[in-house]
Parts: sequence; structure tokens; C-alpha cells
Amino acid sequence: MARERTFALIKPYGVQRGLIGEILSRFEAKGLKIVAMKTLVVSEDLAKSYYSEHIGKPFFEPLIHYITSGPSVAMVLEGDEAVKVVRKMMGKTSPTEADPGTIRGDFGLQIGRNIIHGSDSLTSAEREISLFFEANEIVDFERIDEQWLYGE
Ligand code: RTP
Ligand code: MG
Repeated sequence: MARERTFALIKPYGVQRGLIGEILSRFEAKGLKIVAMKTLVVSEDLAKSYYSEHIGKPFFEPLIHYITSGPSVAMVLEGDEAVKVVRKMMGKTSPTEADPGTIRGDFGLQIGRNIIHGSDSLTSAEREISLFFEANEIVDFERIDEQWLYGE
């Protein structure tokens, strides 16, 4: 298993609903390490770069409007197969299809108001991390439970 870093964003509706702590607890309890985190209002320029893969789709403009509408919390999470693990913990894109027990399955109903984003591949993760963070904002450290988590 490969140790990876992935990018996650608690979107404006998640912040407004007071779900930052709930979401972070799930990631921490899973064993993922929060190696960078910040609160920011995503600018229109950043939003358009971040979601450039969706330019031209019918939901692009509403998505940009939503993601720039208030504060978000951006983070870098590290752990074994972190990209896949975070996507599984988030659940399917549509909250009405996402399984109970997943973040989207437990806390939302509208696809246009998803409360969280997670990178969909290692390549996306690297791109998104570099869009939101400078290299010196990402901290290398060992959690005290790592020997137990990874058996090293
Ligand atoms: P995200 O990028 O936000 O983590 O979501 P995702 O990978 O699961 O889904 P993606 O296809 O990248 O879509 C990005 C966001 O666009 C909105 N969307 N609406 N109406 C639609 O069919 C539709 N499809 C996507 C969602 O808000 C989704 O989070
Ligand atoms: Mg996506």
C-alpha cells in the first residue's frame, strides 16, 4: 500500500452548517493525517482553475457561484491510499445516491450543494494541492499512533 496525499475541501454549505468538526473527526478517526489546513473564501479565478475540467457543462456556472459564495476549509490529508479512502468516505457525487455512513450520504440532499470535495486521482490531488497550498504550508510530522496504524 502506498502512502499518499490527497486534497479535500469542506464547501460553503458544510461550513455554514457547522460540520467542520464532524468531518475532521471522521478523517482523524480513520487514521488520516491532516498535514495542512486553512479557511478561505475561494476566489472566482481559483474556482475556475480548480473546476476547469467542468468548463462548458450545464452545472459549471452554478458550481462556481456556489463554491465562491462563502468560506470553505481546504486541507491536505495523508495516509495509505488516501485518495481512494477519502472518496469512499465522501460517497457518491449525488447525496441522494450516496450510501448512509458516507459524508454526502449522511449530511446532504442536493447535488448542487455538496458539502465536501475530494480529489478523484493522484494526479488531481497533486494539481489541487498546488492550487491551494504553498509547499511550506504542508507539514511533515509523525502521529504517535503511526506505528500501530502501519505496523512499522
Ligand atoms: P467534487 O469534484 O465536488 O468532489 O465532486 P465529484 O468529483 O464527486 O463530482 P464532479 O463530477 O467532479 O462534479 C463536481 C461538482 O459539480 C456538481 N455536479 N452537478 N447536476 C449534475 O449533474 C452535477 N454533476 C456534478 C456537484 O456539486 C459536484 O460536487
Ligand atoms: Mg470532482
